[in-house]
Amino acid sequence: MISKWLYSKRVRTVAFITCLFFIITYSSLFNNVYLDQFKQSPINYHIPSTAHSSDINMRIYTPHLNTLRDQLTRTFPYDPESLIPHTIWQTWKNGPQDSKFPSKFRSTQKKWTSMAQATGYQYSLITDESILPLLQNLYGEVPLVIEAYNLLPTIILKADFFRYLILYARGGIYSDMDTHPLKPFNEWVSSSESTLYKQLYSGTLLPYKNVNRDSTKLPSHEPGLIIGIEADPDREDWAKWYARRMQFCQWTIQSKPGHPLLRELILNITATTLKSVQGSPYSDDQNEMFDLKHLRDYDINYRYSSSRNSSNYDYTQKKNRKNVDGTDIMNWTGPGIFTDITFEYLSNIIRTNNDIPLLNSDLQKPLNDEIINEQSKSIKRFYNIISEQLLTYARIPWEFFAFLQNPAMVDDVMILPITSFSPGVGQMEAKGTDDKLAFVEHLFSGSWKEDADKNSNKNSNKNNGGIPPVPE
Ligand SMILES: *[C@@H]1O[C@H](CO)[C@@H](O)[C@H](O)[C@H]1NC(C)=O
Ligand SMILES: *[C@@H]1O[C@H](CO)[C@@H](O)[C@H](O)[C@H]1NC(C)=O
Ligand SMILES: *[C@@H]1O[C@H](CO)[C@@H](O)[C@H](O)[C@H]1NC(C)=O
Repeated sequence: MISKWLYSKRVRTVAFITCLFFIITYSSLFNNVYLDQFKQSPINYHIPSTAHSSDINMRIYTPHLNTLRDQLTRTFPYDPESLIPHTIWQTWKNGPQDSKFPSKFRSTQKKWTSMAQATGYQYSLITDESILPLLQNLYGEVPLVIEAYNLLPTIILKADFFRYLILYARGGIYSDMDTHPLKPFNEWVSSSESTLYKQLYSGTLLPYKNVNRDSTKLPSHEPGLIIGIEADPDREDWAKWYARRMQFCQWTIQSKPGHPLLRELILNITATTLKSVQGSPYSDDQNEMFDLKHLRDYDINYRYSSSRNSSNYDYTQKKNRKNVDGTDIMNWTGPGIFTDITFEYLSNIIRTNNDIPLLNSDLQKPLNDEIINEQSKSIKRFYNIISEQLLTYARIPWEFFAFLQNPAMVDDVMILPITSFSPGVGQMEAKGTDDKLAFVEHLFSGSWKEDADKNSNKNSNKNNGGIPPVPE
């Protein structure tokens, strides 16, 4: 009975027409603009470079391939509307119950634990022996990240990488051992419970490109990533002391899990490590996991090659514990790369989106007859440059954060003035530890750097990699 029905001519014709219909709709669908977002990137190598992805919208990246970027996005999806997790992360060789725990950290660590207790935050000190099991647990779905962590040849590189990894996976506040908190966490401007937060969110938004700002509002949820300024040295010879004219600090960072800026940073560090380190199974020049057209992106030896002395620097070396220098640390895992990826991300999202809220209450247009002195420590000095960059090129220039006195926002990334994580340094317009925007104090900074730099060539590396403070 059924088979007779199946073979009847009418049913066959209907089936044929239905098939044809599906074939036609699907093939036209594949030429459809709607589907273009799924083939927006021609990238099919597994580990893309972050330097050649200007066509990708980093803010709303939808995983559709199996690159490392896709794996990271799938493993830690980003929820911009969530609250910032109430967790504090620190890391050291051993814990305070160990007699070898440095006595200088006993009081700073105590301040973090008691402040956490008082505000209902969870405190975690991750010791060296628990780092790897923790990463294996968190990054089991992204094994290349764990391989990269293991390959990093020095403790400083690993410690830098770890802070980005823990925040990307779990969120909260990461802070170095040589810091201590100055205010309860629910009084930080990033917390929706604070009065500072409420004041900030009533500010007016700035224009960029030709976007009609009436339709854009600041999001009503807490910022997703909070970054402090480390250095803003307004002097010609700034490069003697710092790696970047506007440098962000990474001794304290606060975030929600899965933030796309941290994803790009982790992707960049993983890629560089797998290519540059001696003994890496991925480091040969034919490895098709990398974008072979841009192999130098992955090789730390070529990171800003102008800073290396080409007559005595060996560009073919693979990196090991003995030949890592200050330039490597800055530009591989440290504040140099952190700052670069931050600016690239911020410019990417305003270029590829028309509804990014931009807030900087310091940035006022100078009055018609107002003369702004070349020495003036006011962002007004840069008003024209900033406007041109925003309106014409859709770029966030470093000047956007110059002499910053109040928190600035670009989408859900909050940039804090130097006073917030570096109060009391007595220069670069930093205010004191009692300021309302001073949240964390950074002590004994820079002492690690002498050890780290003993491998560097003194002639070719005059840059000390950012030891604050700059002597005035
Ligand atoms: C990492 O970022 C730096 C700074 O933008 C860039 O020069 C480099 O090419 C990037 N490398 C990779 C592998 O993403
Ligand atoms: C890192 O890269 C920058 C390029 O902006 C370069 O000037 C610098 O010398 C390199 N090294 C350090 C330590 O910053
Ligand atoms: C680069 O190294 C060569 C050989 O060691 C040296 O003679 C030269 O002065 C160095 N150049 C710079 C700019 O440091």
